Amino acid sequence: MKNHKRREFLKTTVFGSGLVLGSCSFTSNIKHSKKEDLPMVISTWNNARANAAAWEILSRGGTALDAVEAGARFVEADPDDQSVGYGGRPDRDGHVTLDACIMDHLGNAGSVSFLQGIKHPISVARKVMEKTPHVMLVGEGAQQFALSEGFRLENLLTENSKKEWTEWKKTSDYKPIINIESHDTIGMVAIDKKGDIAGACTTSGLAYKMHGRVGDSPIIGAGLFVDNEVGGAAATGMGEAVLKSLGSFLVVELMRQGMSPQEACKEAVMRIIRKQEYQNIQVGYLAVDKQGQCGAFSIQPGFVYASKGTGGNELVDVLSYVK
Ligand code: GLY
Repeated sequence: MKNHKRREFLKTTVFGSGLVLGSCSFTSNIKHSKKEDLPMVISTWNNARANAAAWEILSRGGTALDAVEAGARFVEADPDDQSVGYGGRPDRDGHVTLDACIMDHLGNAGSVSFLQGIKHPISVARKVMEKTPHVMLVGEGAQQFALSEGFRLENLLTENSKKEWTEWKKTSDYKPIINIESHDTIGMVAIDKKGDIAGACTTSGLAYKMHGRVGDSPIIGAGLFVDNEVGGAAATGMGEAVLKSLGSFLVVELMRQGMSPQEACKEAVMRIIRKQEYQNIQVGYLAVDKQGQCGAFSIQPGFVYASKGTGGNELVDVLSYVK
């Protein structure tokens, strides 16, 4: 979806009446938290089509792990999505560098970071989890491993992202943009029919970041955390703020202590508000507990999440600290 269309879609869906996108019919309930019957999937931002890819697997009785990988892959392959995978905005030197992680219901985790030239970092992260004794591979090592697993090298810098980067270089003014194109990282958590939880997180990171910069998304506990006894959480927005508070782990631990997903996401945002400069950044948390109850909270207005369950699709407008 082109960026302007994405923005239009977001406006219409959140504030308008129902509409249809591809095969997914939408209702436009404005809610801040909800409960889903199982199976179910949620993802950060307006990622209904990624949820649909995950749902195809969940609705056939497939695992949450397969579902979140499929959902993340959908966004990674979309050249019009400039925050994730192929078509992602490059760093300041013109390199598209990708971060991703995945976690299953057994607490297994895999992650890749600063990965270049491979379109599906989420699948490489899964291979790290399943085929190596490690949790995380970075840079050249991650790329070598991906190639050894049959992934192929591709140019991920699209003409559109290259053009924007060339424009940016005229000023080289580095300013994180809040809610860039109403999107950022995709974080996804699914619960399958058996009640098992898995999560995935994938991003091209901050546009025009320093070469070598790594954000929260590939860091287990920062961009994503899953505990099958409790629930799962994912983060989006300014990775540095999430890293300094290990946000997704915090959300899950707060749920373990009895907070609802909504309360836990709010408290994790408040930790940033209390200790960090928050005025010019966005961070959003999204969580689901073992029962399928969802919640989210963000620093700035404009964050939404998409949910898909047996009751259909929803795009949920998220409460924020800044009104
Ligand atoms: N949340 C994505 C990043 O900061 O890289």
